[in-house]
Amino acid sequence: MLQTRTRRRAWIAGIVAAVVAFAGVALSAQYAHAQTTLRGAADALGIDIGVAVDVNKLQNDQTYRDIVATEFNSVTAENVMKMETLQPSKGQYNFGQADTLVAFAQQNGQSVYGHTLVWHSQSPDWVENESGQTLRQSMQDHITTVMDHFEGDVFAWDVVNEVVSDNNGQLRDSFWLQGLGESYITDAFEFARQADPNADLYMNDYSIDGINAKSDRYYELAQGLVNQGLLDGMGFQAHLILGQVPGNMEQNLQRFADLGLKVRITELDIRMDLPSSQQMFEQQAQDFERVVNICTNLADCSGVTVWGVRDSDSWVPDVFDGQGDPLLFNDDGSKKPAYDAVLNALGGDPDETTPPDDTTPPDETTPPADGDCTARIEVVNDWGSGWQANVSVTAGQAAVDGWTLTWDWPSGQSISSSWNADISTSGSTVTAGDVGWNAGVGAGQTREVFGFIGSGTSAEPSVTCQAG
Ligand code: G3I
Repeated sequence: MLQTRTRRRAWIAGIVAAVVAFAGVALSAQYAHAQTTLRGAADALGIDIGVAVDVNKLQNDQTYRDIVATEFNSVTAENVMKMETLQPSKGQYNFGQADTLVAFAQQNGQSVYGHTLVWHSQSPDWVENESGQTLRQSMQDHITTVMDHFEGDVFAWDVVNEVVSDNNGQLRDSFWLQGLGESYITDAFEFARQADPNADLYMNDYSIDGINAKSDRYYELAQGLVNQGLLDGMGFQAHLILGQVPGNMEQNLQRFADLGLKVRITELDIRMDLPSSQQMFEQQAQDFERVVNICTNLADCSGVTVWGVRDSDSWVPDVFDGQGDPLLFNDDGSKKPAYDAVLNALGGDPDETTPPDDTTPPDETTPPADGDCTARIEVVNDWGSGWQANVSVTAGQAAVDGWTLTWDWPSGQSISSSWNADISTSGSTVTAGDVGWNAGVGAGQTREVFGFIGSGTSAEPSVTCQAG
């Protein structure tokens, strides 16, 4: 296990140098003082600290984007890797938003945890109306196409999600169970193993954090799948209630680890009755610390993912009337007591002082002045139906504080999604401007400033750069 962690962390460390310029001033400063951020502390421990990401906010909300990039070393798509998004019509796949998340993660040295292949919820109507061999074939097609698409980019998948009901450990009476019978779970894992033999395959559910009838059922299912070599990990969602971390949670995770599985806390949040108070926030901090400690105490715990960034990003108030505030950041992006508690549990220190020689990034020591610039589009990935390009700006003899790039597509290409630039298109001409935090490029320096997903044949047209 430790070897796996070390290997993955070494890979991430290897690309950190390449991404700090892209990720911006805040990120480079945070990397320099690793233990003052959640991801710095988690990297040192060799575990993941993950976050569920809303891709719309990632593209449109700078505070959100900065927190995701700075504080977390792993991401899970909150919604855009679910079946209704990836395959809204039978055989028609829509990877745009998920690709945007994967590209962002790669730019920021983050692993991507896949959520989820087979689930009763957020599935398209067409599949819910199928049964028998047709449904089984659709399940295989979906698993195979999605895992092939993300092979090498997504290190683990929730192959089945929430397949046990809340009723005494019986299997959930979903359209999957009705249409295929109990064997669908094993079949899903077989299809997944065939599709990407290198991905870690997980089951995942809520209300299985402690020992109870539901987690007992998972334990039985896990034994069977482990015996067939089909299961690598068990995901405990941990949608918890203030003051109610199950007393036997560590023991519960340990019994799954003892089967030879990785364990992971996949969707952690701790909700409370509103209005919240400082005292409740202190209790929440203790609860978060306890859960993270349970993971760090277990050699086979691959990480903890929190289910959202700020309290205002959480799904909880939409579903539990009068409850909320379950996450690590306040609505304005400031840190809650729970943040400090998680950092503490990961062995970090919020008060660590900053050595003077690397507190000020070069961008800030050089007074910004407008100058000449050049820019380059570089295709870094091409999967046939789409491609990813990164764009860099090089400043001339004077620093650049703002840039506008223009180029013409040679043969009908288009941008299906982008990050960290304001893009407008007129016919075949594209104009891309900075989004503030990535405006600065030091004199004589090259900075990777944004990226995009293209459609059509991949291309690297020449770019005009206007500084200022
Ligand atoms: O995208 C539409 C938008 O177009 C529309 O205007 C809006 C109106 O309500 O709805 C938007 O879709 C919502 C979607 O989230 C994206 O925001 C859905 O209504 C809403 O149901 C959906 O909720 C998600 C929920 O899963 C669905 O079951 C939550 O964001 C997401 O946090 C939640 O995550 C689940 C995990 O996948 C599995 N475990 C439990 C966890 C919490 O429920």
